[in-house]
Amino acid sequence: MEYTNKHYEEVRKAQQKAYAPYSGFKVGAYLITKDGRTFHGANVENAAYPSCICAERSALVAAISEGYRPGDFESITITVDSPSLASPCGPCRQVLKELCDDEMPVYMTNQTGEMRASTVDQLLPYGFSGKDL
Ligand code: THU
Repeated sequence: MEYTNKHYEEVRKAQQKAYAPYSGFKVGAYLITKDGRTFHGANVENAAYPSCICAERSALVAAISEGYRPGDFESITITVDSPSLASPCGPCRQVLKELCDDEMPVYMTNQTGEMRASTVDQLLPYGFSGKDL
C-alpha cells in the first residue's frame, strides 16, 4: 500500500499517546501488518533515562506481543513535532532489521506533514542479522 493521508492521520493520533515528560519530545509510530492490522506506538520515557522506549519499538513490540512474527509487516510511519524529518535511532534500526523485511518502507514525517520514504535496508546497510550467526 502506498503512503496516504491516512498514514499521517493515524501516526499523529499515535503520537498523542506519548509519555514524554522529560524530553517533551513526542514521537508516534503507525505500523501496518501485511494482513491489514494496525498498531500505534509512542515513546514511553522513564526517570532513569536509558529505560526510555522509542515509538518505533513500542509499535513493533505491541504487534509481536499480539502474535505477529518477523516478515509480517507492511510499513511503519513515524512522526515528530519538529521541522526535521527525524529518522529512527540506532537501536530502533536494529530492531527493524530483526523484525521487518529489508525492503519494507519506513515513512518519516514531521509536524507540517512532509514525508521522506526510506527502507529498512537503506537505514541500516550491511546490518547484522540472524543470517550472520
Ligand atoms: N525517540 C523515539 O521515540 N524514536 C526515535 O527513533 C528517536 C527518539 C524518543 C526517545 C525519547 O523519548 C525522545 O524521543 C527524545 O530522544
